[in-house]
Amino acid sequence: MAAIRVTAPGGDYDILIEPGLLRRAASWGLRGRVVVITNTTIAPLYGESLARQLDAAVLTMPDGEQYKTLETVAELYAGCVSAGLDRGGTVVALGGGVVGDTAGFVAATYMRGVRLVQVPTSLLAMVDSSVGGKVGVDLPQGKNLVGAFKQPDKVLVDPETLTTLPEREWRCGLAEVIKHGLLADPELLEMASCSQNNTQQAAELVCRAVQVKVDVVQQDPFEQSIRAHLNLGHTFAHAVEQVSSYRWPHGEAVGVGLLAAGRLSHKLGLCGTDLTEQIETILQIVQLPQRLGNLDPELLYEAMHTDKKWQNGNSRFVLLRGVGRAEIVKDVAPEVIIATLKELQ
Ligand SMILES: NC(=O)c1ccc[n+]([C@@H]2O[C@H](COP(=O)([O-])OP(=O)(O)OC[C@H]3O[C@@H](n4cnc5c(N)ncnc54)[C@H](O)[C@@H]3O)[C@@H](O)[C@H]2O)c1
Ligand SMILES: [Zn+2]
Repeated sequence: MAAIRVTAPGGDYDILIEPGLLRRAASWGLRGRVVVITNTTIAPLYGESLARQLDAAVLTMPDGEQYKTLETVAELYAGCVSAGLDRGGTVVALGGGVVGDTAGFVAATYMRGVRLVQVPTSLLAMVDSSVGGKVGVDLPQGKNLVGAFKQPDKVLVDPETLTTLPEREWRCGLAEVIKHGLLADPELLEMASCSQNNTQQAAELVCRAVQVKVDVVQQDPFEQSIRAHLNLGHTFAHAVEQVSSYRWPHGEAVGVGLLAAGRLSHKLGLCGTDLTEQIETILQIVQLPQRLGNLDPELLYEAMHTDKKWQNGNSRFVLLRGVGRAEIVKDVAPEVIIATLKELQ
């Protein structure tokens, strides 16, 4: 078992990483009325048994990013009232990042806030979205436009749940793991090739990868400085998602986005080709895409203009001088960005 203590504004909390944790929920020591919020995929796999152990109500949302909405939140509020959740109660968010963000937003706002326990079941949620306190939902106008900071009471990770995660989702989570490796922990780049069915190795991978996020959010809980480094590869990724009308899943877009960030870093003289080759090799090993295919570089560049992190349309990238040496680079010439995208076709 591993325990990672996180220091956060509004209270410290622990991340526990332990195979079998979901089967031992009676010992979690949750207080008050408990409501488990999950989705239709996770409920039969883990939700119903968890609710039985906790003597909790289960609220089930449909599966998919398209349900990370205020409408779902309104239905969950109604469910919380019916279940008798009061201010002394606890919301358990059981699922991937979509459930975590939505249930977290419910916990942040229902009765001005109730306790939240995050139980992430996807690799992405384990190493990224369940930690750091950002919760929220999408609007028709864009992703994550409504939200709050809500620190969990604890984050409970059972790596055994990764054995039922669809393989493509596992690989998508690996893109964020590789990002964390590039930002701060080169060994993660070796560890990323482990199997999702090897629970012991997966537990170690999660532990190392989440530690990178913990270190960053502890230093910068409200994203005023280095938390922005977690956007490595994401300016490219968001453009890929948008131009492909979200046919490219986020993680796959992040994979190629990391390579694009590496290539751009090299073009600007920040790093050598050894780094870009290293990124390409690891993407190959874990079977994440290394090329953009038929996505038009000009359209991708246009899409980047609308990125909310670009102030007044002036470019702003997280780039690498090497593994563990990220920095923000502003005002990169459009030709250089487009040339980088063309190279990746
Ligand atoms: N709050 C943050 O800081 C933060 C950070 C990164 C991403 N996010 C958000 O996270 C979301 C993406 O999260 P995600 O990648 O986990 O997607 P997701 O929640 O949609 O989960 C992916 C799929 O895997 C299924 N699944 C999850 N765990 C499973 C398991 N153990 N067994 C079988 N199936 C399982 C889900 O039902 C879903 O179909 C996005 O909405 C994104 O905006 C938030
Ligand atoms: Zn991401």
